[in-house]
Amino acid sequence: MKTNLIILMLGITLSANAQSEKGIHGKKISPDLVGIFFEDINYSADGGLYGELVQNRSFEYSPSDRDNWHKNANWHSFTAWEYITEGFGYGNISIETQAPLHKSNPHYLVIDVQDTGKNGIGIKNSGYDGIPIKAGERYDFSIFLHPLSGNPFPVQVKLIGKKGQLLSETDLTTDSNDWKKYTATLTASQTEDSAKLVVLVKATGKIALDMVSLFPSATFKNRQNGLRADLAQTLADLKPKFIRFPGGCVVHGDGLANMYRWKYTIGPVEQRVTQRSLWNYSQSAGLGYFEYFQFCEDIGAKPLPVVAAAVSCQNSGGTWRNGSNGQKVIPQNEMADYIQEILDLIEWANGPETSVWGAKRAEAGHPKPFNLEYIGVGNEDKITPEFENRFKQIFEAVKAKHPEITIVGTVGPSPKGEDYENGWKLANKLNIPVVDEHFYEKAPWFIANQKRYDSYDRSASKVYIGEYASKSNSLFDAIAEAAFMTSLERNGDVVKFASYAPLLAKVGYTQWSPDMIYFNNTHICRTPNYYVQQLFSLNNGDFYYDNIVLFYDKEKKSQVSDSTLASSCVRDSKTGDVIIKLVNTTAKVYTAAIDLSKFNGISKNAVKYTLTGSPRDRNTFDEPDNIHPETATIKLNQTSNYELAPCSLTIFRIKKR
Ligand code: AHR
Repeated sequence: MKTNLIILMLGITLSANAQSEKGIHGKKISPDLVGIFFEDINYSADGGLYGELVQNRSFEYSPSDRDNWHKNANWHSFTAWEYITEGFGYGNISIETQAPLHKSNPHYLVIDVQDTGKNGIGIKNSGYDGIPIKAGERYDFSIFLHPLSGNPFPVQVKLIGKKGQLLSETDLTTDSNDWKKYTATLTASQTEDSAKLVVLVKATGKIALDMVSLFPSATFKNRQNGLRADLAQTLADLKPKFIRFPGGCVVHGDGLANMYRWKYTIGPVEQRVTQRSLWNYSQSAGLGYFEYFQFCEDIGAKPLPVVAAAVSCQNSGGTWRNGSNGQKVIPQNEMADYIQEILDLIEWANGPETSVWGAKRAEAGHPKPFNLEYIGVGNEDKITPEFENRFKQIFEAVKAKHPEITIVGTVGPSPKGEDYENGWKLANKLNIPVVDEHFYEKAPWFIANQKRYDSYDRSASKVYIGEYASKSNSLFDAIAEAAFMTSLERNGDVVKFASYAPLLAKVGYTQWSPDMIYFNNTHICRTPNYYVQQLFSLNNGDFYYDNIVLFYDKEKKSQVSDSTLASSCVRDSKTGDVIIKLVNTTAKVYTAAIDLSKFNGISKNAVKYTLTGSPRDRNTFDEPDNIHPETATIKLNQTSNYELAPCSLTIFRIKKR
């Protein structure tokens, strides 16, 4: 092979020794390797992917959402709101809890109008750093109102611009003496990136308000209670094979009361439970389990929900500061209910409309099952005896009732160490089908660790790399990830899934970096790491072939086989295309000698994708396309040499004949 390819480098085409594809063994690999992991961190949900434009719509923000570090005097029931009496009216406002719209949504606002003045009195919401509005676009407004004295109440709703200019206006009048939802559509007359929503009560008396909401009508796929279209499309463009949600650490929470409970997140939005997020802000749960599953279906990704393994984060109570274990455990006498909650999730996702939980899914607008196949149990947990005990109870109950569901376990927060080892011991003991490994490491780690899975026991648990990232958004880091990903394809018989983390970060609210996609209210910045994920996802295969590429140093006229150069070759049996990925993590040009002669049924036509630049290059909001893939169509001979640019990922997609 070596001699043949040196001959190839000299431009001589070899075909005599070509093996037919039947002669080389394509190894079956996971067709679902590349997916995404969504966690509400960095304001990814409220103020991010979730389309709601009103911040703190249900007056549920609480100072206790924050920790000591994030203490913020401006974080309370009236955050993002302002009391307005512009026409010299007067009255009072108060946050009350005596007679809420729903017990899960305890706070609401009462306006006591004593004098309406010229314009009425009311409230103004500033959204998440302003409300972005586009001229001609329609916005769906809704509000719950409850007149407490007097009725009907005339109410005016306006969108106003930065300079106070009117962008849209509508009026409504209460017609019930109880809580009732009122809706209206506002059409914007101008584009404005920082509008505000105004609600004015125009009669004297007392009225209660809650769930003040504004959505663009054009959410992703025009879904009600839907997602911000451009961000959702950016995720859809990755064509992820699965979505892991809702966390991450958000799942196990930093204390039992803070665990993510899926049942709090379904049903009418006004009945969902707003919760303190472990990331120190408030989660409205408007983006809840129904919306996650719906989004998965909308973009053709398999849902991979994660539930807590009945234990909280080991760092609960700030114990990470002194290294002690802060893991809290659901008491044994509550375990039956907790396990039932997980079984109910499976019924909610997959059960018939006639089942208790399937009926709730149908009521929400999805009579057909969601075809759930996987459930993650636990996230980066400390593998304590209590964890083992709780995990085992959940694992056995789900396996017994739902053998069709594949359970994904957890093996700690890093690629080695005590929890990794103990997690794997447990996986081997219980025969857990898949375990979740995480690594946040520097670029050289990814380059050096390409052999990591070569020696994994093929008969043991499969691996889901649920969170990984090289520690920056430079091109070099993305290319290091690409090199590592070729090794995941090579080991796609062991590594079933992989997802970069974190996925989204709002500028100015970024708590963890790097992230794959940065956004503000109007713009999106895709990182080089995004493009690597996208190129691998769009060019996946289900069979892996060895020894198709060799690398050479032209100057030294020698073969190079260290990990700074990486390649993979897969075939996608659906399209019949053969896909070669070539990665050069170095600052030098190298030659890749590609031998396609072993494949049957391929043409000379190929699409070439390249991602390259200077190692330190990044994308920014000013230059969002600084690094992006270039696409070309080319002809490829059965055997050919290709000069690999420094710091590059090149993909050849060779079309079926
Ligand atoms: O991705 C950010 C955090 O990193 C996740 O919440 C957690 O699982 C990991 O520690």
